[in-house]
Amino acid sequence: MVTLAVLIVGASLLASLPYWLPSAVLGLRMRIFTWINGEEGMAIPGKLVDAAQLKRLYSHPAANGRSRGAALSDLFWYWLSPGAHLHQEHLEPGEEYEEVARTTRRILSLPRKPAEDWVARSVTDVVGRATQSVNVVRLRDLMMPIWAEFYYRLVFCEPCPIGARDLIVGNANDVVTALKCCSLRHMERRYRLTRFLVDRVESGAVPHDLPAHLSAREQALYLQGTFFNTAVVQMSEAMAHLLLALAKHPHVQDRLASNLNDEGYLDRVIDETLRLYPLFGIAHRITSSEIRLDERTIVPRGTVLCFSYPAYHRSGFVDPDVFDPDRWKTVSPRDANYIPFGIATNRPCPAQGLAPVTMRAAAREMLKRFEFHSSASHTRSIPNRGPCLLVPRARQFGSAPRRLLLFALRLRDRWEDVWRSIVQLALGTYMVWDARRLRLCERYFEAQALTVREPGPQPMAAPSEPGGDYRCPHTNGRVRV
Ligand code: HEM
Repeated sequence: MVTLAVLIVGASLLASLPYWLPSAVLGLRMRIFTWINGEEGMAIPGKLVDAAQLKRLYSHPAANGRSRGAALSDLFWYWLSPGAHLHQEHLEPGEEYEEVARTTRRILSLPRKPAEDWVARSVTDVVGRATQSVNVVRLRDLMMPIWAEFYYRLVFCEPCPIGARDLIVGNANDVVTALKCCSLRHMERRYRLTRFLVDRVESGAVPHDLPAHLSAREQALYLQGTFFNTAVVQMSEAMAHLLLALAKHPHVQDRLASNLNDEGYLDRVIDETLRLYPLFGIAHRITSSEIRLDERTIVPRGTVLCFSYPAYHRSGFVDPDVFDPDRWKTVSPRDANYIPFGIATNRPCPAQGLAPVTMRAAAREMLKRFEFHSSASHTRSIPNRGPCLLVPRARQFGSAPRRLLLFALRLRDRWEDVWRSIVQLALGTYMVWDARRLRLCERYFEAQALTVREPGPQPMAAPSEPGGDYRCPHTNGRVRV
């Protein structure tokens, strides 16, 4: 009798693991991170500064420190290596930052028509042959080679060879998998791309003016960090969220697929996706002087401000957890608590113009070819990489086999979640500890403080603004796609 009771309790406990273990392990992981890294930062919205004041604080000129003085930075530099010290996201404000930011804006200033053509070409190259059979895919993995090709073309103004695409995907995948604590860093994989880019920079293959104050190796690291890491990762994650949201909301998908030119609706679906699943969990800044928000609210100098996108994007919305693209019919993105690309006055995303154009184009290309179905969980950090059933539109696929496949997918996703949460706990703890040990950011600024700098400003490239008439600097106007 006792044995039977023990067996029943054991079996129930085992069967219920997917429902409580992952969140319990996540809570434990966060506590261990705080324990190793120390209590740092002011959460916003939070006790002192609420959602109504977030934009004011974020845009304050003194909310401008980026890396120096935050233990959190050691962790980000660790994940984004090599070359985190050259990444636009992590540079402190100043001349070097301005020159790098100008270069990024210039490279990203691709007009809409070539942008859409290049996306269409990349989608055809990558998924062109997958239009015959039904496949179970991970959406992030499916999208990554598409964006690797696109950004290669943007940087080099020529089609992307398969070998280069593999190097870029290997690099981007390694960064994002480590960031989510699903795997350790594999620096050799990343250095392979660095070596390839150094060769290309040294042989004059980059047709854009790169920051003049950087050496060839530093220019290669700049390209690697911004275009072959951030751009590829962010676009792949954004598209994985978009397609997974469509897979989980068939009525939204049907409405879009039956009218692919309804740009207004597509924009609302993208806005709703980026509201519920913002790519940044937290963006941090370090205050360079005291900030007085009102009579009672004073933020001291040196405070690490942690702006929480998920919390902000849920405040002030009716039924904030419901995926409802039509909410944007009556709410203006400009007036809402919604900042998918950051704050215009404080280092916003330089791709806020190009990213939505290319997302729209990629969504149309994918919806033309496939139906998407999924029963997997959809969370902001999407560590499952968006498991999804990809059904070619040209193919008949009965509802019985589809339901069976979706049942199997759900079961696999739930159990993977259990295993993954334990892996994330172990690897995350190790990486937080390793990043504290290496102190990449802290040591960089210590070394900088000891360096004697040449007096006077450094020579800088003449600024050039995006024009409507795009001329590929490499092909003298002829854009080879
Ligand atoms: C849908 C896609 C994307 C979203 C939602 C997104 C979102 C964001 C956000 C919210 C920030 C500001 C974070 C902060 O305040 O610290 C940011 C910064 C940045 N993003 Fe994006 N991003 C996307 C795609 C891209 C792409 C394609 C690139 C390609 C180069 C890019 C490059 C950067 C850079 C370099 C920064 C740092 C800006 C600076 O500090 O000056 N992002 N992004």
